[in-house]
Amino acid sequence: MQQPKRLFLWNLIVALFALGQAWPNMMISPQPSSGLKADCVGNLMRLTLDEALALGNQLEVEALNGTQYILLTPRLAAQCGYSMESDPWGNTRIYTSLLGCFVQNKDDMMIGVGLKLKIYRHSPSDVISHHVAQTCSYTRWAPREILCDRNYMEVSRYMAPHAEEDFQLNTIPGTSEDVSGIWKMTFFTPEPMSMVLKEAQQAGYSAMTTATRVVVRSPYNTAETYSEAVAGVPMEVLKVSIYHKAQDGLSVFNLAAACPTGGLLFTEDLISWHVPRRVTPLLDGSIRLVEMNMGINGLRLDKAQMAAKGYYLYITDFYIIVEIPIGSPDGYYKSHAPDFQYHITYTIEPMLEVFWRADQTQQDTRYKILFPITTPPMPRPPYTDDRTVPEMREFNLYVGTFLHDVELRNITFTTGVLTVEESNARGFTVQQHVFDNGTSVFSIKVPFDTDVIFKHNPEVLVTTYTLSVVFGFVILPEESSLAHAVELQASLQDVVLPTLTGTCDQDQFYIIVKYGSQGTNFNTMVGGLDLTPELAEAYKFKGNATHGTIKVPYAATSSAFELITTNSIRARLDVLVWDPITNWILSDLFLACYFPLTTTRCYPNGTISALAVKVQSVPNLDPSWLTLKDQSCTPVSSNDRFAQFIFSADSCGTTRTFFDNYMMYENEISLYYNTEKGLTHTSPVDPEYSQTVSCYYVVNATQTIAFHAKSRLYEPKAEIGSGQMTVQMRLATDSSYQDFYEAEDYPVEKYLREPLYFEVELVQSTDPHLALILDNCWATLQKERTSLPSWDIIVASCAYSGDGYATVFNTVSVDDRVSVPSRYKRFSMKMFAFIQEKQVLKHEVYVHCDLVICDTTSPAEGICQGQCANLAVKGTAKQMRRGQRSTTSTHQKQISSGPITMNSFQ
Ligand SMILES: *[C@@H]1O[C@H](CO)[C@@H](O)[C@H](O)[C@H]1NC(C)=O
Ligand SMILES: *[C@@H]1O[C@H](CO)[C@@H](O)[C@H](O)[C@H]1NC(C)=O
Ligand SMILES: *[C@@H]1O[C@H](CO)[C@@H](O)[C@H](O)[C@H]1NC(C)=O
Ligand SMILES: *[C@@H]1O[C@H](CO)[C@@H](O)[C@H](O)[C@H]1NC(C)=O
Ligand SMILES: *[C@@H]1O[C@H](CO)[C@@H](O)[C@H](O)[C@H]1NC(C)=O
Ligand SMILES: *[C@@H]1O[C@H](CO)[C@@H](O)[C@H](O)[C@H]1NC(C)=O
Repeated sequence: MQQPKRLFLWNLIVALFALGQAWPNMMISPQPSSGLKADCVGNLMRLTLDEALALGNQLEVEALNGTQYILLTPRLAAQCGYSMESDPWGNTRIYTSLLGCFVQNKDDMMIGVGLKLKIYRHSPSDVISHHVAQTCSYTRWAPREILCDRNYMEVSRYMAPHAEEDFQLNTIPGTSEDVSGIWKMTFFTPEPMSMVLKEAQQAGYSAMTTATRVVVRSPYNTAETYSEAVAGVPMEVLKVSIYHKAQDGLSVFNLAAACPTGGLLFTEDLISWHVPRRVTPLLDGSIRLVEMNMGINGLRLDKAQMAAKGYYLYITDFYIIVEIPIGSPDGYYKSHAPDFQYHITYTIEPMLEVFWRADQTQQDTRYKILFPITTPPMPRPPYTDDRTVPEMREFNLYVGTFLHDVELRNITFTTGVLTVEESNARGFTVQQHVFDNGTSVFSIKVPFDTDVIFKHNPEVLVTTYTLSVVFGFVILPEESSLAHAVELQASLQDVVLPTLTGTCDQDQFYIIVKYGSQGTNFNTMVGGLDLTPELAEAYKFKGNATHGTIKVPYAATSSAFELITTNSIRARLDVLVWDPITNWILSDLFLACYFPLTTTRCYPNGTISALAVKVQSVPNLDPSWLTLKDQSCTPVSSNDRFAQFIFSADSCGTTRTFFDNYMMYENEISLYYNTEKGLTHTSPVDPEYSQTVSCYYVVNATQTIAFHAKSRLYEPKAEIGSGQMTVQMRLATDSSYQDFYEAEDYPVEKYLREPLYFEVELVQSTDPHLALILDNCWATLQKERTSLPSWDIIVASCAYSGDGYATVFNTVSVDDRVSVPSRYKRFSMKMFAFIQEKQVLKHEVYVHCDLVICDTTSPAEGICQGQCANLAVKGTAKQMRRGQRSTTSTHQKQISSGPITMNSFQ
């Protein structure tokens, strides 16, 4: 730390030379405080300490009286010509009047001031002392000098022996002859009030003579001064007569000082300080203003310096006016929080020096005012700058502007208070941005996805985020609190809804919920039932961070049966996820699947078992009410959804039909009106329930006799190829017949004249001797096979050509899928205008077929000769109509396609 010290001293010396002052006799010990500087400014010695009092330090100033230091109490300082001012950060300026007490005055020319500064830091024992000795030379004393310092008024005048005293008294009443000097003072308040020097000193006044001058000093607001408004400016006035006894007699000096205590006008950006142009208490006759100067902090400024800082000094008829822009760097701003509202003040200490000459007496007066000014508190409500870009998913908030003496301590969130450090640790970036002029703004970034943010959804897909914070500031150094509350909102269409997907296997639905942005914040309903924890367990709920799955058996209570076919059941599961607060449905899924279910079993020994299922369309059905044709045949078992029938082929009203090589046993499960019991089981709105039970038995020719022989025993033997035969008609996606539309693809959309490829298959038969023949196929606009209008496609097993469209049979050959081509039939046709009204753009078409299953081992006759093989029939194809065919001994089946939507325009 050696280097800065030397530098500092060097700077000081240069500064003092520059001011044209005498060689400084300055001593700083034991260690210089950073920025301790003594200089001479006119009739004052100025001592500047930078931040000496920061952090609550206490400063004591002692003046050297000969060899002894005397503590300058505020009262003694005001009495003796010392003043001290500190800003809130401890920057201190001490002025010593060169005519003050304790100074070493050599002929009013060289004046030495010795001061000791004691800085108490944390405790009275932790003290740093600085000794300052400064000699100032001042030779330009005016005949009369008036000084208005911060805490006192001082007036001095030239005192030439025998020359200029106002009165010459011959006797000195009441004093001993040998005591010379001031012995009495008479104050004018304006009433005269006399006291001897000692009394006056006890009252706080000071009066003394120097080599050439007589000096009187009074603190402000003493009993013997008075206030007077001069041109509207309040002034404090001291008028006193000094009785001075000298060797050669008694002199009386009349002295007067008048100092302004007001005269300020403030605007937002300007301070106007009005000093009366004629300080009437000081003047007898007319005067001439010879010179005037303004200064700052006791130091006179020249015109260029004033212009550079925007200061302005001018005269009007009644005033000398000093104008200072608020914010000039010579002063300082300070924050305040009256009623916790942010305010600032600005403080500056201008100086005014006026030099005037009395017209009559030609007497000169130098008048100097040091005048600290602080503006009234100016409200500066902090602004809030919301720089949030919602897409960034964080709040970005700026609060400002604050002076440098404001510090952010903590931030109160809805969840609690965090210090700045804790906020940063939580990931809320808190920053202070300092501008060049020392003011700053604070910013905070708070991500949307934290617990201090309140979220709500005004719409299904929109989230509104709310940030509520209170900034806790302190104003330094006094640590007063200042709070600033801010609430911000941002909305973002950022909600990702949960999605439901599902698949099925042989016996279960698999439902997968992919969680959306709200996580698992939803309720689930499966088939109308809330997914309670018990149900979730039953459905083997499994979840990870992103998905949840359940497995629902197709026969679970949550599922609905839609359709029953001989070998499958179509069950549907409705899954719904919804917001429990808003009741918004977030996602839904209606998943219908075919599950293999053999409802009918035909045993070789003639036993038939059949399962009846309650489908959704008959909601009021109680399966236990179902019977076979013989109403005495009731279910062997039943529950609320199923009824199981077991009966032998010769009972329960089972009908038997013989075909060439087959026997068909047929019964029907139905809800018959039981008039005897007087019960009506069906609700009028329910469709009729009817489920056909059929068993086909291939008759082994070699055992026909045995069969007939045993027919009485109702034991049909049908080991060969026993079981059910079903047919399916599917629409292929193209002519390759490799891919087919699935049940869920219906209605299939097609365009006019786009070919449709149909395949009809005899499924679930392992018998290679069976062949499938398409007898009649036709199209309708309605689902019902018999609805009108209808258009022929295949008539009497032959492709129908006419009306400008053609049906084409496509050959079936062996491939991966097809092992027995005879069990398949393929045909194609072009979508045509099935409409009557041309304006119909879109409508549905159903294709229906009657078909025949033939046994290729038996002699072929009739239709079983082959597809369009019967020429006799072929010849009359156009005349043959559906339903005209008489029953034959072959097995007939019926089949229909699902809806195909036809678009008229491509
Ligand atoms: C200052 O010193 C003088 C001379 O030593 C002494 O008479 C006077 O009382 C002292 N003043 C104070 C205030 O102690
Ligand atoms: C300081 O600078 C900032 C930014 O330029 C400005 O907004 C603010 O008003 C200035 N404050 C003062 C006291 O000059
Ligand atoms: C937060 O800071 C303010 C201002 O300094 C203060 O008044 C308040 O007590 C602080 N709160 C907590 C919990 O620290
Ligand atoms: C969560 O489960 C889903 C569905 O079961 C799965 O696709 C996903 O990979 C799993 N994620 C993790 C992180 O395990
Ligand atoms: C017929 O066969 C089935 C299956 O093997 C058997 O369950 C049933 O009891 C038999 N019925 C008779 C009457 O033997
Ligand atoms: C008919 O049954 C007999 C005896 O069970 C068997 O040998 C014969 O192969 C069967 N015929 C056919 C065509 O399956």
